[in-house]
Amino acid sequence: MRTTVGIIGGGPAGLLLARLLHLAGIECMVLESRTREYVEHRQRAGMLEQGTVDALRACGAAGRLDAEGLVHQGIELRFAGERHHLDFPVLTGGRTVTIYAQTEIVKDLVALQLAEGPPLLFEAEALAVEQPESGAPVVRFRHEGREQTLTCDWIAGCDGFHGIARGAFPAETSRTYAHDYPYSWLGILADVAPSCEELIYARGERGFALHSMRSPAVSRLYLQVPNGTDPQDWPDERIWDELAARFAIDADWTLARGPITAKSVTPMRSHVHEPMRHGRLLLAGDAAHIVPPTGAKGLNLAVSDVSLLARALTDVHRTGSTQLIDRYSELCLSRVWQATRFSYDMTRMLHAQPNGDAFESRVQLARLRRITASRHAAAELAANYTGLPLPV
Ligand code: FAD
Ligand code: DHB
Repeated sequence: MRTTVGIIGGGPAGLLLARLLHLAGIECMVLESRTREYVEHRQRAGMLEQGTVDALRACGAAGRLDAEGLVHQGIELRFAGERHHLDFPVLTGGRTVTIYAQTEIVKDLVALQLAEGPPLLFEAEALAVEQPESGAPVVRFRHEGREQTLTCDWIAGCDGFHGIARGAFPAETSRTYAHDYPYSWLGILADVAPSCEELIYARGERGFALHSMRSPAVSRLYLQVPNGTDPQDWPDERIWDELAARFAIDADWTLARGPITAKSVTPMRSHVHEPMRHGRLLLAGDAAHIVPPTGAKGLNLAVSDVSLLARALTDVHRTGSTQLIDRYSELCLSRVWQATRFSYDMTRMLHAQPNGDAFESRVQLARLRRITASRHAAAELAANYTGLPLPV
């Protein structure tokens, strides 16, 4: 088989890239190792930056997002028994964020792609990327029980953190920067109306908690838990009691409880692979970088990477100029490192240290007090949270 851009991975990065290339008239094909059912129901992110919403709108994939997404004007910070509202439009000159689940974005993009093309193969597992330095790199993959090859002009590795594309970079020209955090998140989905209108980030000595949502009838909540936690050790009652204790404030407020429909534990890590291009192989999204979820940058970074990648590939295709594609890695990484820094700062500001370090705890409170006391500090958080502009 042959195509112009071979895309490995049908997550948000691969699917959006395929949509953007299709609209630009560039032939491509997506290989996704899992079933459609699996990718459409994998519970993950839910908070979209303004730029992510704009990108989905611009490619005609925001019909349901515009109808069902929940536009939020800010977030709430809770600590020391107090609640503080950050007003994003006021702090950023009009920017907002939108709650719309990653599962729904994937469903919308899959439906568009199956209706309008380009080809999307499920249960097509990429096994290796060959000759990335050549003018005709190849993806070797297994589909319908047999091994096949896809010869391309370019290959986009959008195959997430556990994919194979990153492995085709030579060790001598690659470098990984990584940091593991000494805690994880226990995430739940519950059939109960959210107890808040905007997201609550709560810091306390018992640990961090986040109240998010998926719709007016479904809540999404997270608890900081020790690494290695088994979700089985957290029966529903224990989860609700712990969430209620971590969200408690010196005022009348109760957390509504309901049936829990999903429960999982996610480790927290930062990981950046440099560079993001080797020859004609380009990485995008989690294949190149992972951030801890505090601040919700993972999905948004995947979208900004592929927006830059589609722009660069379109330029090569239309004009023959390699100027943008030659700067792809550098441009992406400048934004990736800003999101890495922001996620790291948010994570460290809000999570309890497992060793109970009292000094660290006081510094966290001082940071939070600065954000709630200084418009300048709050505006800095709001600018990062709602999303920094794409580099030019
Ligand atoms: P992925 O979504 O991982 O997609 C990669 C795709 O490639 C997958 O469909 C996979 O099946 C496929 N694939 C892998 N290997 C191969 C292969 N060899 N051949 C073919 N296909 C392959 N971000 C937030 O902002 N907020 C959150 O709350 C949040 N929660 C998360 C919870 C979990 C458990 C995880 C893992 C991530 C979470 N993230 C969160 C991060 C966010 O979901 C990711 O940043 C986002 O999914 C990145 O999209 P992607 O397309 O780059 O990668
Ligand atoms: C969600 C996840 C996050 O990590 C975050 O900071 C905000 C929202 C969510 O899943 O809704």
